[in-house]
Amino acid sequence: MTGPPTATPSRFEHVPVAVYPSSADGSRAVAREIAALLRAKRPGNRPAVLGLATGSTPLSVYAELVRMHREEGLSFANAITFNLDEYYPIQPSDPRSYRHFMREHLFDHIDIAPENTHVPDGTVPVSSVDAHCRDYEGRIQAAGGIDFQILGIGRTGHIGFNEPGSARRSRTRVVNLDSITRRDASEDFGGEENTPRRAITMGVKTILEARSIVLMAWGQHKAGIVRAATEGPVTPQVTASFLQEHDNVHFVVDSAAAGALTRHRTPWLIGALGDQGLEWDPAMMRRAIIWLSQLRAKAVLKLTDDDYNEAGLQDLLRIHGSAYEVNLAGFYQLQHTITGWPGGRDPKRTKPGDAPVRPLRSPSAGTFPKRILVVSPHPDDDVIGMGGTLCRLVEHGHEVHIAYQVSGSNAVSDEALARDLRFAGDAGLTSRETAERLRSLFAAYESAGSLPETPETAHWKGLVRRQEVLAAARVCGVPSGRLHFLDLPFYHTSPGRRRQLGEKDVEIMRDLLGAVRPHLIYAAGDLDDPHGTHRLCLHALRDALALSSGEAWVRECELWLYRGAWAEWSADEIDLAVPLSPQEVLRRRRAIFCHETQKDMALFLGDDRREFWQRSEDRSRRLAETYNSLGLAEYEAIEAFKRYAPEEFLRDLPL
Ligand code: F6R
Repeated sequence: MTGPPTATPSRFEHVPVAVYPSSADGSRAVAREIAALLRAKRPGNRPAVLGLATGSTPLSVYAELVRMHREEGLSFANAITFNLDEYYPIQPSDPRSYRHFMREHLFDHIDIAPENTHVPDGTVPVSSVDAHCRDYEGRIQAAGGIDFQILGIGRTGHIGFNEPGSARRSRTRVVNLDSITRRDASEDFGGEENTPRRAITMGVKTILEARSIVLMAWGQHKAGIVRAATEGPVTPQVTASFLQEHDNVHFVVDSAAAGALTRHRTPWLIGALGDQGLEWDPAMMRRAIIWLSQLRAKAVLKLTDDDYNEAGLQDLLRIHGSAYEVNLAGFYQLQHTITGWPGGRDPKRTKPGDAPVRPLRSPSAGTFPKRILVVSPHPDDDVIGMGGTLCRLVEHGHEVHIAYQVSGSNAVSDEALARDLRFAGDAGLTSRETAERLRSLFAAYESAGSLPETPETAHWKGLVRRQEVLAAARVCGVPSGRLHFLDLPFYHTSPGRRRQLGEKDVEIMRDLLGAVRPHLIYAAGDLDDPHGTHRLCLHALRDALALSSGEAWVRECELWLYRGAWAEWSADEIDLAVPLSPQEVLRRRRAIFCHETQKDMALFLGDDRREFWQRSEDRSRRLAETYNSLGLAEYEAIEAFKRYAPEEFLRDLPL
């Protein structure tokens, strides 16, 4: 069902932003705009000139256009298209080229004349690339200019490949790619070193000349940059912000990508909440109180009537009567997130007056001990994200299972695998025949500097990580019989293909859920993961739960999301906070250390060069400090979780 956009412009947003409940809804709306243009220009066969983008963002728009072509007879006979960009250099036949992308997702499935499709040419020699760029501009002019331009937005705020620093007057040209953009693309190219450094892109000015522009963004990982582009100043540092100067532009985003807009984060700054159709529910109240406490640098219980009045939060005083009452309500909400019993309290150790299960609330909350399933996308996310809580759950006597969704083989260097294979050979642990094969493999490794990328080496790399899991699980006290290596097939998509979940992935998840029938699930909710694996892993779990929804155990099950190595929940999002002692922090560190292939220069550290154990410790210590500064007890570290309500996991999350 297509929901209407919640278009509530605020004085903070300098471009119109339509927020849709899901990326599918937003994509359908954009596809309808394109279809309307094609149809309006159809009489007299006038050309409809489209500016197109690649990347994950427009995928569902293209899928919808293909569907409309097949099922509704939408014709592209009058379409002329110009793509924003192309890697340089690259062959059009390369599956990672944007020309190939466009054929695969759109051009090969519609009735567009191939000569009407334009993508910058990644094969032109360096000596003629400037002429090629000028010619590209000329062709756009000759077609009458772009009627409708679709855009995605990169994490650097780029549109096309106009990276930070691009001038407003820039034209189609060769550019150097930003290191963040290259890291985001590195998985498609099998590592950063193989990722192109340059691209040809339409310029900012070229884009701004389009008569109508829509920028789409899906997912929480885009929320910060969407805010910067819409609410921030117009600056070459965020080239999407130049769109604020266009008079026929709008942003189409899903609710996750809209999450950092002022109207969502701090709607009280916009005016009366009621006018925005928002209620002062407990979650909004907690967010406002935490915001105020941090703004005033005061503990929650020290906030005064003046603090509330001056910050525009007089509504809360009116509802609760006085700052004293609001403070107490906010303080208790925060305090009730904290528990040392993440799986519920052991009834045998419950004293009168203890809240036995808070903050759990499912029908099985009182069951003790519980069957608990920790779902870890990669082999180390469990200990990085919730190693302390994991140890605690085992100590409390719960039946803790851990499922590793992907093998993690991509992040094992050839050197690490070669070391283990050499050991097996040198220790005489191989048959004569295998020893012979290993010798030829090493000879190839010595001369080529890399091992062949075969399913076999990928499998071996997965096994290397399994050994690390077994070691870490020993530190946490989880028996090997409760470790489940799912090796979801989506992870092994051939290079250059975007990963997509298949039925098999969901089936594997569903079978595991059916076998464990957990009372509690802890899953990684790390949607900022730059490589998208965590997002797909969460989708696999969500779809498997949806398939299992008829089973009795699902109705009794509670689901919590932890954060992995990339980001922490903000204090107002946290529903469960598990304080850790200094010893528990050290034990978690030992468990993370077991993942030796991920130490020192791991392959996919992302923008942050700290090692995973450092990120985990810094993050959980900082959270403990935040709780303390809000006026709660002083803990060494805190691991935090957010409740994942069924209506959320049945909502369409962007891929
Ligand atoms: C693609 C392009 C880029 C992408 C942006 C977002 O042709 O020009 O600006 O739109 O990098 O990429 P995704 O959609 O993969 O998040």
